[in-house]
Amino acid sequence: MTDSDAILEARGLHKSFGRGPARVHVLRGLDLRVRRGEFLAVMGPSGCGKSTLLHVLGQMTPPDAGEILLDGLPVPPSAAGRNAIRRRRIGFVFQRFNLIDVLTAADNVAISLRVRGLPADGRAEELFAAMGVSHVARRKPGQMSIGEQQRVAVARALAHRPQVLLADEPTGSLDSANAADLLALLGRVHRDDGQTIVMITHSAEAAAVADRVVHMIDGRLLDAPP
Ligand SMILES: Nc1ncnc2c1ncn2[C@@H]1O[C@H](COP(=O)(O)OP(=O)(O)OP(=O)(O)O)[C@@H](O)[C@H]1O
Ligand SMILES: [Mg+2]
Repeated sequence: MTDSDAILEARGLHKSFGRGPARVHVLRGLDLRVRRGEFLAVMGPSGCGKSTLLHVLGQMTPPDAGEILLDGLPVPPSAAGRNAIRRRRIGFVFQRFNLIDVLTAADNVAISLRVRGLPADGRAEELFAAMGVSHVARRKPGQMSIGEQQRVAVARALAHRPQVLLADEPTGSLDSANAADLLALLGRVHRDDGQTIVMITHSAEAAAVADRVVHMIDGRLLDAPP
C-alpha cells in the first residue's frame, strides 16, 4: 500500500489512564493503516483498549504520544484542530442509546448537521429511506425499537459525509436479526458509497462482513499489514 492509499493512519500511539500504581497503559505503540474505502474490523478481549483506540482515532481524546494522519495529513495537536477534524471528517456510531431522547429521529440528524454548519435539507429523509427507517422520522427514540434507533444513529453518523465511519460494537445491543440487518446496512454503505469503516466487534458474524480483521493485544494490533 502506498501512502496515498491510506485514508487513516496511526503511528506509535500511546495512551494511559490514571497515575502512579493505578496507571493503566492501554495503547502501547500502536500502528494502524486503513485503506481508502476499506471496511476494517477490530477484535480483542474486553478491556484491551478497543474503545480507547476508537476514541483516539475519532479525536475525542488526544493520544499521549504518537501521530494520526487523515488523508495523508497529520491531525493538528491543538484541541481546536482536533475538534474540527472530529466534526467534519469523522462519523461515530456508539454501542447504544446515543440519540438525543427529546428529539425526533429527523431532528437528531438535523441538529447534527446544524452544529457543523451544514444544510439539513432532505439529508435525513434520503438516509432514512436508504436505511429502511423512513417510518420513524417523526418519532423520538423512546418510540422506536432498539434496531431502529441504531439505524437512525448510523444515518446521523453519515449525515455530514464523513471520510471515516467509526463504529464501536454497533451490533452489541442488538438481537441477532437486528444485528444482521445493521451489518447488511453497513456492508451496503461500504460497497455502494465506498465508505471507509472501522468497526469494533466481539462477533465473528460482524467481522465476517469486513474486508480485513485485526486483533488487538497488549495495546497493539496484530496481523499482517494490508
Ligand atoms: N477514562 C478512563 N479512565 C480510566 N481508565 C480507563 C478510562 N477509559 C478506559 N479505561 C481503562 O482502559 C482499559 C481499556 O478500556 P477500553 O474501554 O478501551 O476497552 P475495550 O477493549 O473497549 O473493552 P470492551 O470490549 O469491554 O468494550 C480498561 O482497563 C479500562 O478500565
Ligand atoms: Mg469497548
